[in-house]
Order: sequence, then structure tokens, then C-alpha cells
Amino acid sequence: MVRKWWISVPLLVLLVACSKPTPSATAAVEPATTSASSVTPTSVKRSEPAVPIDAFAQAKRLGRGVNLGNALEAPQEGQAGIVLQEEYFQVIAEAGFNTIRVPINWSAHAMAEPPYTVDEAFFTRIDWVIENGLKHGLNVIIDMHDYEELHGDPSSHKDRFVAIWQQIATRYRNQPDSLYLEPLNEPHGELTPIWWNGLLGQVVTAIRQVDGVHTLIVDAPDWGTIQGLLQIEILKGEENAIYSFHFYDPFPFTHQGVEGTTAEYQTTGVQWPGPPSTPLAPNQQAGQFAWVRKWFQDYSTLPTASNPCSPSQVVKQLDWALQWQESSGKPLFMGEFGAYSAADMQSRVNWTTTVRQEAEARGFSWAYWEFAAGFGIYDPTSRKWNQELLGALMPGS
Ligand code: BGC
Repeated sequence: MVRKWWISVPLLVLLVACSKPTPSATAAVEPATTSASSVTPTSVKRSEPAVPIDAFAQAKRLGRGVNLGNALEAPQEGQAGIVLQEEYFQVIAEAGFNTIRVPINWSAHAMAEPPYTVDEAFFTRIDWVIENGLKHGLNVIIDMHDYEELHGDPSSHKDRFVAIWQQIATRYRNQPDSLYLEPLNEPHGELTPIWWNGLLGQVVTAIRQVDGVHTLIVDAPDWGTIQGLLQIEILKGEENAIYSFHFYDPFPFTHQGVEGTTAEYQTTGVQWPGPPSTPLAPNQQAGQFAWVRKWFQDYSTLPTASNPCSPSQVVKQLDWALQWQESSGKPLFMGEFGAYSAADMQSRVNWTTTVRQEAEARGFSWAYWEFAAGFGIYDPTSRKWNQELLGALMPGS
């Protein structure tokens, strides 16, 4: 939900081919197409499920998950601090997680011009991630993350977006149904709700030309927020889709101290639950939060001394999400939630416990943001879990 330093890096730089040595792909993975335009229903046999797929069952199956963040969504893996290791998949499965969500910067590894071919070495790396996740019994969500040019200029990038997904869907169309496809993380910017609803229809049509199996995970517009669900159009004729929201409220608590955020978010010392230990500046008490108040008139996500961080705020928002699920008849998934390491540990544990419990009480599967970086729950150097946070997510672990 925050802007990254690499967003300003020119696209050309991002197009440098992945030079990392990559393990070999499994036989189960389809070969890459060399040209997006070659992906048509006539050239590729569409995969079909053995039995009809129930999206609610697929959502339930996601259970408890973790995002492998700060790895493959950087322009080059490692630039955001994490290079995925084979041992991570086992460690995650042994801790009892059911799912990994894998944020991936596909757009940094595809040609800028038609046919927008995805780099084969990068595809091979993703093959390896999928293979290792499935090998350890984990559901694997492959998520297109940080295609910032698309959010900034959808009309110039829509064809490329669809062509990249045609290639991904073709390559993985024969994988088991524990692989899930998430077309785009947190649509925002010029990719307005109207734009996103239209583009979503196009990309789903392209995916379904070749892949009739894999469950889609559709992010709400407006950064994947619960409020964004109000503006999403349910996909017509597409039953195999789960809709997704991300939960970071109250932002001045979860994102305190995150580098690269604007002044409104530069909070420190905000505790959960309870009042902030340092008062918020006036510019942190209005501005960007006004739109939240519009939807929740008697409710503000902004903690102040007189309106402290309170579990009832979580309850209210998640109640609203449940209401959306009931009225739309479509399953919801909480694809990201987490609190940054600048918050005090006890507050992070309290917040994580509350959000996780409240989500589960409403039957929502979830994926924590994230595994081993700034919001992380695992220390890759000592190779140890943060037991307090792990306990908040997996009671009894
Ligand atoms: C972004 C991360 C961010 C997280 C929490 C994710 O979708 O990609 O960079 O830290 O949300 O804001």
C-alpha cells in the first residue's frame, strides 16, 4: 500500500533480463509462449476442471497464509531485501500455514513492445516458486504486483497487461487448482474503479480462453480497501473468482515509520489498543482520511487521544466486509494485513491477534503481510520465527 523507491525507475531499466541463476523447471510446468499473440484458443487447448470448482470452497481452502513480500515484486529479486530460499517453503509449511501469496513484478520482466514476451529466465524462477510451494502442500497465489505504469497510464498499458496474463495463464493452465491467479495488486491512481472494472473483464476473458481451472483473486479498487469493494463490479458469468481486500487500519498505527510515505502517515509511537503516546499533528488528523469518513460517517480510522485505537474499529470494518460478502454472494479473502516493525512489539501482537481473530470469526481466510522484511515474522539471518507474532497468527504454535 505504499509507494516504492523503484517506482520512479524508468521502464527501460526494468526490462533488463533476469540474470540470476535459476533452478530448472518441473516437467509439470508448460513451456513459455514466445509470443503473446500466439496465445489463442485455437493454438492452445483450454484446461478444464475435473469437477466444477466452488469459489467458496477455494476461499476457505486458503486458510492461513503469508505473503512472500519484498522478494519478487522488486524489479530484480533481492533489491527489496529478500531472495527466496528453498528452505522458506518448508519452514512456512511446518509452521502450519496453508498458503503463500507471491507478489511478482511481471512487468519488469516483459518486453515493452508487442508481443510483450515475458523473459524465460524469470518465468523459470516463478516455476521454481510454484513447484516448491506445491511440493510442501501450500496453496500458491501468483499476484501481479507493482505494475506502477499501469496504475499511472492504463490506456497505454492495458494491452501489455492482458498479453502478460495470457502468457502466465497459458504456462500454468495445467497446474493443480491449488494455484490461484491474482491479476493485479491494489488497483489505484489513474486505474480508477471504472477503469479497473473494464480492464478486469478483458483480462479475465483472456485468461479464460486458455485456463478454465484456476480460481481468480480479484482486488478491490482504491488500493484493495474494504471501501473499494463498494465500487467493484462483480464479474458476469465468472463463478470461479474470489474477491479480495487488504486491511491496514488504522493506517497511522500499522504504517508508522514506514519509509517513503507522505507526511500524513509519518506517525510514531501509536499504540494498539490505546491512544497514541505522541499526539498526532493537525495535518495527520484530516486530509487523506476524509474519504474514509465518507463511508463510515460515525467512525474514523484515525487514532487521536480522544478517539483511540480501538478493537471496535476492526470489528466494524470487518462486519461491513461480511455484509458485502453476504449481499454479493461472492467469497472474500483478506489478502494482506500487517503492522510495520516500527510499532512496539506488544501493540503489533495485539493488533495482529485482533485482526486475525475477527477475520476468522467471520470465516475469512487471510494472508499476513509479510514473511521476512519490515512487517515480517521470520528472521532470515537467525532463521527463527518471531514467536510472539507467529503466536498471534497461529495460536498454539
Ligand atoms: C506493498 C508493500 C507494502 C504493503 C503494506 C503491499 O501491497 O506492496 O510495499 O509494504 O502493501 O503497505
